[in-house]
Amino acid sequence: MIDRVELEKLKKVLKKYGQSSLLAFWDRLNSAQQQRLFDQLSRLDFAQLDRWRNDFVLNNTPFKLPVNIAPAPSYAPKPENETQRLKYDQARQLGEKLISRGKVAAFIVAGGQGTRLGFDGPKGDFPISPVKNKTLFGIFAEILAALFQKYNALCPWYIMTSPLNHQQTLDIFSANGYYGLDKQNIFIFQQGTLPNFSIDGKILLSDIDTVASSPDGHGGSLLALYKSGALADMKKRGVEFISYFQIDNPLVSVLDPLFIGLHALDGAEMSSKAVTKTGPLEKVGNFCLADGKVTVIEYSDLPCELAQKRNPDGSLVFNLGSIAIHIISVSFVERLNKEGLSLPLHRAVKKIPHIDDQGNHVNPTTPSGIKLETFIFDALPLAKKSIILQTIRSEEFAPTKNAAGSDSVETTKQMMIARAADWLVSAGVKIPRKADGTPDCVIEIAPSFALTKDDIAAKQDKIPPIKPGQSVFIA
Ligand code: UTP
Repeated sequence: MIDRVELEKLKKVLKKYGQSSLLAFWDRLNSAQQQRLFDQLSRLDFAQLDRWRNDFVLNNTPFKLPVNIAPAPSYAPKPENETQRLKYDQARQLGEKLISRGKVAAFIVAGGQGTRLGFDGPKGDFPISPVKNKTLFGIFAEILAALFQKYNALCPWYIMTSPLNHQQTLDIFSANGYYGLDKQNIFIFQQGTLPNFSIDGKILLSDIDTVASSPDGHGGSLLALYKSGALADMKKRGVEFISYFQIDNPLVSVLDPLFIGLHALDGAEMSSKAVTKTGPLEKVGNFCLADGKVTVIEYSDLPCELAQKRNPDGSLVFNLGSIAIHIISVSFVERLNKEGLSLPLHRAVKKIPHIDDQGNHVNPTTPSGIKLETFIFDALPLAKKSIILQTIRSEEFAPTKNAAGSDSVETTKQMMIARAADWLVSAGVKIPRKADGTPDCVIEIAPSFALTKDDIAAKQDKIPPIKPGQSVFIA
């Protein structure tokens, strides 16, 4: 039952902030619907939303470029001198020790809308492996099982979903028997949402009793880890480090001892992996040292003259692209939340389904609404220390963003095959090739067979000869 006084108060607030249209259908709602809408609206901070409306909806506040921008220091993929070699060895050993002591958790952000892929269902259920058609969730589950075997240690798995796909994700895990993993070690939790706006600053309704909203971005994971109890669960298990990655990159090294070890050795709070950019304007975030802090500046925000700037040897000055792979200390997430976490908002103009003033459902064909979100990499400058480890793109970055074209299902599959071929070649296996040098075969290596290139060397005799055009599953 809605208190009349409370309802009047809400009406006043909505009027003050020009959002009375949220109650336009109030008299048409039954009492359950009224309660539903009232509860949603009561949870919103309209004063805050009004500031965002001004800064990001009615005006597109330009990105404030830091005063001093320099390239960020980084560790090369392989040590470059003897001192570094010793440090990398030490880091790798430390990383392995931390993994085998259960100090590292795997964390996938999977709450996105996946609009570009256009798949009906959570992206994690998308079949991607080139021979067996295993889904993204299935692949990561097999990797975790293989890591368990390798390190004789448990690595709990945290998965962030959103209201858009939470129930479906739970159902998929249940229907697949948690992919053979122990359910107790999988923690699936939801991120928050933010209301959607029309271009003219009205908060949209997706139905007469529902505020239109979308997930609050992968940056929302830092808050959601805390609010959902996932962080408390990590602490209870003795987990100190979170290996963060995205659902759409099946090549990621889920637990990389070198990366974890460097992060821990250097006392970092949040660290990143980076790849060398394919060109000055590649659409990835740029690692920079901004006013002395490791920062990612989006490709659209980095001035062209800086993006194009070259070193005397011809290489790009800002040559490190962000690939959304991080090690985050549990204590850092806790500190941020206790201090009152607030990441900057980013605006995106999107096709947002909503209802019009008559209550008719509208499915826009062109982007016409505003979605606000936060990005995980905006937490980097908040870290007291942050390191970057370069990695090789072909080894570790194949994002499945689009149905076709670049960063698509096809390119991901090709990269999975190409990496498998590289690993086999390193073990002396002959790979049939097409005229353009790409493998003339389809190969998939089971994580239980090899998690890294090095795992293959010892198993050379178990690999069958590969014929041109053949499809081979190596397990
Ligand atoms: P993307 O930036 O690729 O967004 O997310 P998306 O929503 O998945 O796809 P599009 O843009 O609609 O096509 C990168 C990663 O961050 C996660 C995604 O699930 C993906 O793993 N993500 C994104 C979240 O978990 N929550 C969000 O709110 C946004």
